[in-house]
Amino acid sequence: MCGIIGIIGKAPVTPLLVDALKRLEYRGYDSAGVATLINGHIDRRRAEGKLVNLEARLKSEPLAGTIGIGHTRWATHGKPSERNAHPIATDRVAIVHNGIIENFQELKDELVAEGRRFESDTDTEAVAQLLTSYLERQMSPEAAMGKAMGRLRGAFALVAMFSGRHDILMGARRGSSLAVGHGDGEMYVGTDALALAPFTSRVTYLEDDDWVVLSSSGCAVYQGTTKVERPEKRSGLSGAMIGKGNHQHFMLKEMHEQPAVIGDTLQSYLDPATRAVRTPSLPFDWNTVSRITMTGCGTAFYACMVAKYWFEKLARLPVEIEVASEFRYREPPLPEGGVCIAVSQSGETIDTLEALRYAKSQKQILLAVTNVPESAIARFSHAVLPTLAGPEICVASTKAFTTQLIVLLNAAIAAGRARGTLSREDEERLALAMIELPARINETLNMEDDYRRIAENTLAQARDVLYLGRGASFPVALEGALKLKELSYIHAEGYAGGEMKHGPIALIDDAVPVVVVAPSDSIFGKIASNFEHKIASNFEQVRARGGKLVLLSDARGVAKLGAKAETSIAVPDIDPVVAPILYTVAVQLLAYYTALAKGTDIDQPRNLAKSVTVE
Ligand code: F6R
Repeated sequence: MCGIIGIIGKAPVTPLLVDALKRLEYRGYDSAGVATLINGHIDRRRAEGKLVNLEARLKSEPLAGTIGIGHTRWATHGKPSERNAHPIATDRVAIVHNGIIENFQELKDELVAEGRRFESDTDTEAVAQLLTSYLERQMSPEAAMGKAMGRLRGAFALVAMFSGRHDILMGARRGSSLAVGHGDGEMYVGTDALALAPFTSRVTYLEDDDWVVLSSSGCAVYQGTTKVERPEKRSGLSGAMIGKGNHQHFMLKEMHEQPAVIGDTLQSYLDPATRAVRTPSLPFDWNTVSRITMTGCGTAFYACMVAKYWFEKLARLPVEIEVASEFRYREPPLPEGGVCIAVSQSGETIDTLEALRYAKSQKQILLAVTNVPESAIARFSHAVLPTLAGPEICVASTKAFTTQLIVLLNAAIAAGRARGTLSREDEERLALAMIELPARINETLNMEDDYRRIAENTLAQARDVLYLGRGASFPVALEGALKLKELSYIHAEGYAGGEMKHGPIALIDDAVPVVVVAPSDSIFGKIASNFEHKIASNFEQVRARGGKLVLLSDARGVAKLGAKAETSIAVPDIDPVVAPILYTVAVQLLAYYTALAKGTDIDQPRNLAKSVTVE
């Protein structure tokens, strides 16, 4: 979604605003803008397209001022254009906003009837005009904001700057995140601690329905008309964590961070000495859980899909999974004693949050697996299992996904142990496989030239690509297809191997590569014994139609079937339970190098945004 920043500084703020917007650009990048106060008047620069356009604009038309706000946008209401770019301003107030004002039309009708003229197509302008209307009725900015909060519906975070008031900025949030940064005689407010990281590590996280008044010396937080206390915390984020290092793209850096962040995550969830999972303290007993419902969006949903296999197999627990946007509207009955696990990198995705809200109404215990422990989803849940992936900047998720899988596998093992469905021997075997995983991922990353060759010679030449996988490799096939399409804009679909003959086979000809994700063993005895037969039959079906097979398997699988494939890669050997995590890295590499060959914008693919805080 959009990224927002506000600064009350001692020196000119525009360079700092632009610097913060660079860290927020992953949230949206179809237009950007900054506004400052010059002699009490609002002045702003805005530009359609990426931040570089705004920077060019600021070069030719610099913007002075020691107080200011900035925004990078992912359009919801109103197409991406300079006119709709934030800050949205009247002569009294300038606003930057993330989220959606659901009742903007009702507000707009009222304000237009008052004689106000709207200049943009955004829902944000309803807030700017509403505040202006209050200010013109001689209300103070504080009174105007307090009253406006009572009128706004939807999920939003916003920051406002008032003409004639060099001394204050105001912020407000409901649903979307907003954090205040404390400096030395300077104050900051932004979407998240990441945006504020180079400025300060002293952060106050705002709660839903808070509105805040910042001055150069501190902040006061309100709910309605009541002043409330919010603690100042130390953020562990540093500016260095959000650079690209020596890598060409954030995605490449984040893929290469996977061995380290998986190691960090394992430290919390596993005792390497005893090869036992550390059972996190949870507000329920796995023995009394009647059913697990798992939900998330996109890649996070695929983490749920993989985890379903693990919980069912290792803990013999029934698991339902559903994409959050469907689940929340389907309103399925959920059994008493059920646990709902929400998976979300950002912890902000509105569909996932709303799905949790529904699960809570059904008296489920809520468990969040998230990379942002201060996020809305984390705070809404009864318990949080953090992924320790560190900031993920590339819009396409990589290390967040693999750490989600690590956390979920450990949870499934803990559940299996508690329920007596997993032997100590099996737990040790799986723990060892996870301990070895960072090394196996490193080996995979070291083979990147092999993936690059397939990407350049086969995938980048195609218009359509199919990914096939069976068992827990099916979600990996889905993830491979999603990564390929979002990064390279090549149409790709993932299918369960056995489904190919029921439809997708119609697509296959010599122009359609088929990537087969096929570790040569499986947690499912049935598939294990039939592996060669089943994969081989997929192979023959594709070959008979001239399709180009790309085999991702281990040395055994490649030895058996490699000769029949156009090309194959031997992924390092790994325990089959853990294999989905390793094979994910393989499909990430294929997608990355295909996008590189196509010359697309890898870190910021068209039309996408990192955290989707609107429906
Ligand atoms: C794909 C991708 C998205 C996200 C989805 C959920 O590469 O990144 O599909 O996984 O938007 O986001 P979170 O995990 O933040 O809820």
